[in-house]
Amino acid sequence: MNEILVLYYSRYGAVRQMAQLVARGVEQAESCIARVRTVPRVSTVCEATESAIPEDGAPYVELRDLEECSGLALGSPTRFGNMAAPLKYFWDSTSEFWLKGTLAGKPAGVFTSTSSMHGGQETTLISMMLPLLHHGMLIVGLPYTEPELFTTTGGGTPYGPSHHSGMANDRTVTDQERKLCLALGRRLAKIASKLEK
Ligand SMILES: Cc1cc2nc3c(=O)[nH]c(=O)nc-3n(C[C@H](O)[C@H](O)[C@H](O)COP(=O)(O)O)c2cc1C
Repeated sequence: MNEILVLYYSRYGAVRQMAQLVARGVEQAESCIARVRTVPRVSTVCEATESAIPEDGAPYVELRDLEECSGLALGSPTRFGNMAAPLKYFWDSTSEFWLKGTLAGKPAGVFTSTSSMHGGQETTLISMMLPLLHHGMLIVGLPYTEPELFTTTGGGTPYGPSHHSGMANDRTVTDQERKLCLALGRRLAKIASKLEK
């Protein structure tokens, strides 16, 4: 049974909702399950530490999750057109795997959420791919055979699923955004299964 790691950070819940949809998409494919994980917040006060177990949501990721899973979906809110610091902080702890090539050849896709419509979804998605490329992962986007890429009036890009959450984070995930999250999960699962053969 292949496992796809769905690793996300979410402060206000939008990316967490997307992560759940991507995970559902993974499990729509045959013989694949999703392992959903998050990362703790980081603080400018070095003494501040998060509790070992999150109060709610997915468990915190461990390095072995990357090693044990055969693919990755990585989700982050946009922070000034870029990935959020807690996820970047996690990637900065992965040099051991980079040296060993542990992730090389595994498929990976990315997803994001922004409060404004043109607030940097595509720059965030592309910059999230950079550490994954350094690790030798095979980047999986969304093809235009997904009809929602043509019809969406919110998020959804060929670089990966996205969501427009609104300035008050009050916009729900649209039907098109939802379908594209599911599509990424399914696609990662199918590609991981083919690569494992
Ligand atoms: C420090 C900071 C920077 C942000 N930068 C952007 C940005 O560049 N563009 C944008 O549209 N939204 C930006 N946002 C808004 C979040 O990306 C947006 O609310 C997102 O949907 C939150 O996801 P979450 O609910 O999973 O935490 C920023 C939010 C914070 C706190």
